Amino acid sequence: MTWLITGGAGYIGAHVTRAMTAAGERVVVLDDLSAGHAARLPEGVPLERGSASDPELLERLLGEHEVTGIVHLAARKQVAESVARPTYYYRENVGGLGTLLDAAAKAGVGRFVFSSSAAVYGDPDTELITEDTPCAPVNPYGETKLAGEWLVRAAGQAHGMATTCLRYFNVAGAAAPELADTGVFNIVPMVFDRLSRDEAPRIFGDDYPTPDGTCVRDYIHVADLAEAHLAAARRLADGARGDLTVNIGRGTGVSVREMITTIGEVTGEYRAALVEPRRPGDAPRAVASADLAAEELGWRARLGVREMVASAWQGWVLHQGA
Ligand SMILES: NC(=O)c1ccc[n+]([C@@H]2O[C@H](COP(=O)([O-])OP(=O)(O)OC[C@H]3O[C@@H](n4cnc5c(N)ncnc54)[C@H](O)[C@@H]3O)[C@@H](O)[C@H]2O)c1
Repeated sequence: MTWLITGGAGYIGAHVTRAMTAAGERVVVLDDLSAGHAARLPEGVPLERGSASDPELLERLLGEHEVTGIVHLAARKQVAESVARPTYYYRENVGGLGTLLDAAAKAGVGRFVFSSSAAVYGDPDTELITEDTPCAPVNPYGETKLAGEWLVRAAGQAHGMATTCLRYFNVAGAAAPELADTGVFNIVPMVFDRLSRDEAPRIFGDDYPTPDGTCVRDYIHVADLAEAHLAAARRLADGARGDLTVNIGRGTGVSVREMITTIGEVTGEYRAALVEPRRPGDAPRAVASADLAAEELGWRARLGVREMVASAWQGWVLHQGA
């Protein structure tokens, strides 16, 4: 098999590319480098620079590399930007996906893995989110991921393509410092950013109905997430049919305050957190049930929050020093 990894030069995509290559899978990466870095790719992995929604490029690439499966990570992922530019997000994340699925069907690609997100659930009122928890996204980004899942399943059914949608929870950490996330959109880099400026980390709301009053999330190490992609790809390569949609999380909740404390302990950079008003749209608690992934993919996360923070900090120091 040859796997096309779209967005393979991005933060998560580079980890997926590395894990699949290390496991002996043949891969080719397609990335427009709008947010990715070619230097993240392991040596010898072919990189096609261009858009994952360019039909001519896709037709050539799928044929030339004899692609038999696709792992589709390329997307726009910033919630605030999706609120400001919804049509752009729908065009990129849903329209672009349609073009890719058409090209895949035309080329006879039989397997497709899609990067979805816990954002599809919105603000669920439940202790553990299972795959049957109703989806009710609260921003255009989450909507595009849910619409993307629908499109993937429908195209899979129409064209006899086996599909898997992976709903990632909160991704953090790095398998190597040079692969670290360089964006400052998630809690870990946001706290690092404040500490590096000698400013107090911020907590948005400490009056939520949670044990310490701050929001609770399920954090997953990006290296574990990459292994989940490998497991999903292998399951499809082994002949699984139809569609599978699974949560990719640890099944353990960590509060914002606990995360800030761990960051202080691991990095040695302590500052008392500043409590600010709640942000609109933040769910009090979002923790995955991780059982279906264990059952269907034979995969469970191995790494904890300390490993996520320590590895992300090494990456932060490397990139700040660069
Ligand atoms: N980071 C998270 O916490 C998180 C959580 C849930 C889901 N996801 C999803 O995971 C995927 C990867 O996220 P990431 O954090 O690695 O983001 P990222 O921005 O680092 O990676 C996306 C990659 O796709 C490339 N790209 C974007 N649009 C493209 C296009 N049209 N054609 C070709 N390449 C394109 C970018 O250059 C980049 O390399 C996305 O689909 C995102 O929605 C991420």
